[in-house]
Amino acid sequence: MESRLRPVLYIIIQNNKDAEQVISIPGWDVKEVRSIESAQACIATQQYDVGLIQLEETSGKMLQAMETLITQHRAIEWVVLTNEACLQQTPFCKFIRETCYDYVTLPLSDSEYTRLLFTLGHAYGMARLTQDDGESTDDEYEMVGCSPSMMKLFGAIRRVASVDASVLICGESGTGKELIAHAIHERSSRASMPFVAVNCGAIPENLIQSELFGYEKGAFTGANKQKLGQIEVASGGTLFLDEVGDLPYDMQVNLLRFLQEQVIQRLGGNEEICVDVRVLAATNIDLDAAVKQGRFREDLLYRLNVLQLSPPALRDREGDIEVMARFFFDRFVSEGQARLKGFSQQALLAMQQYSWPGNVRELINRVRRAIVMCDGRLITPEDLGLADGVATEVITSLEDARELAEKEAITHAVQYCRHNMTQSAKLLGVSRVTLYRMMEKYSLGLSMETSVK
Ligand SMILES: Nc1ncnc2c1ncn2[C@@H]1O[C@H](COP(=O)(O)OP(=O)(O)OP(=O)(O)O)[C@@H](O)[C@H]1O
Ligand SMILES: [Mg+2]
Repeated sequence: MESRLRPVLYIIIQNNKDAEQVISIPGWDVKEVRSIESAQACIATQQYDVGLIQLEETSGKMLQAMETLITQHRAIEWVVLTNEACLQQTPFCKFIRETCYDYVTLPLSDSEYTRLLFTLGHAYGMARLTQDDGESTDDEYEMVGCSPSMMKLFGAIRRVASVDASVLICGESGTGKELIAHAIHERSSRASMPFVAVNCGAIPENLIQSELFGYEKGAFTGANKQKLGQIEVASGGTLFLDEVGDLPYDMQVNLLRFLQEQVIQRLGGNEEICVDVRVLAATNIDLDAAVKQGRFREDLLYRLNVLQLSPPALRDREGDIEVMARFFFDRFVSEGQARLKGFSQQALLAMQQYSWPGNVRELINRVRRAIVMCDGRLITPEDLGLADGVATEVITSLEDARELAEKEAITHAVQYCRHNMTQSAKLLGVSRVTLYRMMEKYSLGLSMETSVK
């Protein structure tokens, strides 16, 4: 029976060519090369999971060339064979520590030879494992995750995509609600038709009617021509109502009517227009609570909530943090310096221990920041803003900065007014309703009950 040998690239770089020593590696399909250029050529024509580097020279130029080779081919795990003299050199040790899987010292004793063979097998297994992480997730509309809760979610996405009912996607900020909406659309029979997203929280109250339903020419001063609303634009496809909890109460009844009858009327028009649209909605507030507080219509909630998906918080996705961190590292690594290799063990640990209140969006921001800030080859907890278990805020946009400032102002005002919401709202110059809404938006768990009378 023919067995396929695992390929290993064996790079031999020695000062003294006459005393060249070549190690035999039984059980592998060994490709020997004697320069970095030849190694590059081999990698270009064949896939290698493991490389063995016999390096008995520590010049800065050589190390740099090796590093370049390694960083260009991150999927390969590298094992170094070297001698004691080289291991005395600090830059050389750093090179091994930060870029290689393991090393074995020459000359090889019997036990070290056995260890070398074992290490190569192990490195091969690790390389394959890392590749499998990517393969299992690539086709989920770029949604990454291998935790049991995400596997369940992927299954649910496939199932809801095959029907036409409304879906309510409920989850904390940054858990991927919009991505899920896209994934449902892409997998549905409507995939070739438009996907239209409307952020109900971002449109001023007086414009939301015309934004959703459109208007006829002359409907109001300045309506010089007819404009289609987003519902009509989505015709045949999917309408995604993001932050649906922020939809003004008066507008909710208009939306309900559309959901019940599948007809709309443009502003200033008399005609009833039939529109075939599938509606997906997302919220990061508790809509049941909003119904109880009289801020959201119960009948609309029933209409939107025919099916429900709840992406889990990142801290509850066992094993996903590392997989996702590596995924975003690969996606954004070109924004950093070329030598960057990955995460240090401490960085991986710090990420495991952090609670990720901003979920995947925060993970992306921290990884991107780390890629830019890192001046070594491996990202440290400091680069991620997660040193000593104390997280520093990552601000990447004006919107983030505004949110942070709003959160701080609300927290201080409510504490200053001893949880009296009426006084806090007055101090902040907003209505009480707006204050509640903002507290819910930012998940500020201040004990509101004390003042709701
Ligand atoms: N499973 C995932 N795999 C890959 N990327 C993801 C995943 N989940 C979220 N993201 C990315 O994280 C970011 C935030 O996701 P998204 O905007 O969908 O979250 P959200 O729940 O809608 O957040 P918010 O409530 O703040 O609007 C996006 O850049 C998205 O592409
Ligand atoms: Mg969103």
